[in-house]
This record gives sequence, C-alpha cells and structure tokens, in this order.
Amino acid sequence: MRKITDPKELQELCLEWRRQGMSIGLVPTMGFFHAGHLSLMDHVHPLCDRMVVTLFVNPTQFGPSEDLNSYPHDLENDARLAEKHGADILFAPEADAMYNPDHATWVQVPELARGLCGRTRPDHFQGVCTVVTKLFMLTQPTLAAFGQKDWQQLAIIRRMVQDLNIPVEIHGRPIVREADGLAMSSRNAYLTEEERACAPGIHAALKAAEKLVLEGECNAETVKNFIRTRITESVPMGRADYIELVTPDGIKPVESISGPVLAAVAVYMGKARLIDNQYIEV
Ligand code: PAJ
Repeated sequence: MRKITDPKELQELCLEWRRQGMSIGLVPTMGFFHAGHLSLMDHVHPLCDRMVVTLFVNPTQFGPSEDLNSYPHDLENDARLAEKHGADILFAPEADAMYNPDHATWVQVPELARGLCGRTRPDHFQGVCTVVTKLFMLTQPTLAAFGQKDWQQLAIIRRMVQDLNIPVEIHGRPIVREADGLAMSSRNAYLTEEERACAPGIHAALKAAEKLVLEGECNAETVKNFIRTRITESVPMGRADYIELVTPDGIKPVESISGPVLAAVAVYMGKARLIDNQYIEV
C-alpha cells in the first residue's frame, strides 16, 4: 500500500490506472477506523482492480462549535487496517493541500440537506458534497461506497451524482453495529462508560418503532412520539436533536405512512451526538 498526501500525485496515478483500463474503487473516510469503515473496504476490494481509501477530516463539514479539533485519530493504526483490508493507496492529505486559501466553489443539494442533520448543521452537507466531489475528481473512481449509517449523506451523494452526471457507481452499505445494537461510529469514543451503557437504547427504540409500523400504525406523529418516549426512558442522559420520519430518497417529512419510510434520529449525549436510522419497508 502506498501512502499519499499530495492531491496531484494521487490524481496522476489514478488517471494513469484508468488509462490502462483499470477500475478504481473509492472509500472516503475521516479515519479512526471501526468495523463500519472496514466493511466498506471489504465490499469494494473484490469489485475493483485498485482500491483507494481516503482519510481526511474535512474542515468544511464541521460547524464553528463542533469537534473538528478533537476528532479522534490514529493514523498509524488506520494505515495498518487499510493495508490489511486491501487498499492500494491510503490518501491522507493536510487541510491546506485540499483547500487553497482562495477556495470559493461549493457543491450543494439544498433540497435534501434542509431536514434532519441539516437543521442543526446548516453548512455540513455542502462541505461533504464539495469534498466528495473533489475526491471523485482526484481518484476517478468507477465505484464508491458509503454507509447507510449516514443515510442523509448517502441520499445527497446519490442525487449529486445523478444531477451532475458524475460517472461513478454509488454503493450504499448496511449499518455495522456493536453486539448490543449501537451503530458503530468514530464518535462513540467520546462516550463515558455510563453513556455507552445506555446508548443501545437508540437502536432498540427504532426497532420497536419498526415493529409498530409493520403492525399497522401509519400515523407518523404517533410513531415519533413512541420513539421519543422510548428514548427518554432508556437513554435518560440523552437529549434528542431530532426524531423524524422521512421519505428514504427525498428526505421529505412523512405524515401518513403509506410506503417505505426512514425513521431517523440524532441524540446528544455528553460530548457526542449520535445518529441512527431504520429503513422500514412498508
Ligand atoms: P466517516 O464518518 O469517517 O465515515 C466514512 C464512511 O463510513 C461513510 O460512508 C459512513 O457512512 C460509513 N460508516 C460510518 N459508520 C458506519 C457504520 N456503523 N456502518 C456502516 N458504515 C459506516 O462520513 C464521513 O466520514 C464523511 O462525511 C466523508 C463521506 C468521508 C466526507 O468527508
């Protein structure tokens, strides 16, 4: 595995691979790998001639009071894991190599970015879309994988790729969970022992809501209140940021459930903000 920090060097190598007729798989990350990240690599690796894993804590997707400067990192261990899981390149640039001081171009999908996480993180998704577009231009991927854990991010990237005719296949991959149901996240490292112990209550509340809907409940307000009550009871140190039912592709609020729906939540817990979701196939 080759470690690259220079965007130009990465682009030249990837363009050369494409000229030689090779396919390239991309796994974009912010590092501090857990089994969720590794599952994306394991998915992509057998499907492509070359796999590029990127590790970049992208400053433009963090708000001013968010955790950019304390985001967990362990480059050495990440490099070892990326190599073990088949990466040909680990691209880990510095922020000033990715963004010129006069950077002025932004990619946005406002319609899908207003709800859910976009409400409390208004510039987050334009930071994500912009950096993912840059990573696409640098790595020329034939395929790129993203986790369903960040469902809204995945929906936005799919729409961006469709709208801008970007020639890449997007693969959305299932949420990888701890044995007790907690969705894996680099930010779980922020949880105290006590917070960690009750955090699986979030997934349990979403699974119970799925059952409620599959048994026939179709009033979204009732389902949201049900999730809120469950989370209040089982995750007492959590504070819900949002609890929403939306359309899975358009991220539009649902009032009456008559087809597939996404139940999505974000919960503040101590230093962490945990997100999770459940796709409900009605
Ligand atoms: P990061 O949070 O590091 O996540 C990198 C990829 O791993 C994303 O596609 C995310 O959805 C996926 N992922 C995270 N936790 C997962 C889990 N438990 N199961 C399955 N997949 C999981 O998401 C980002 O970084 C950034 O926004 C990025 C796309 C890299 C742009 O900066």
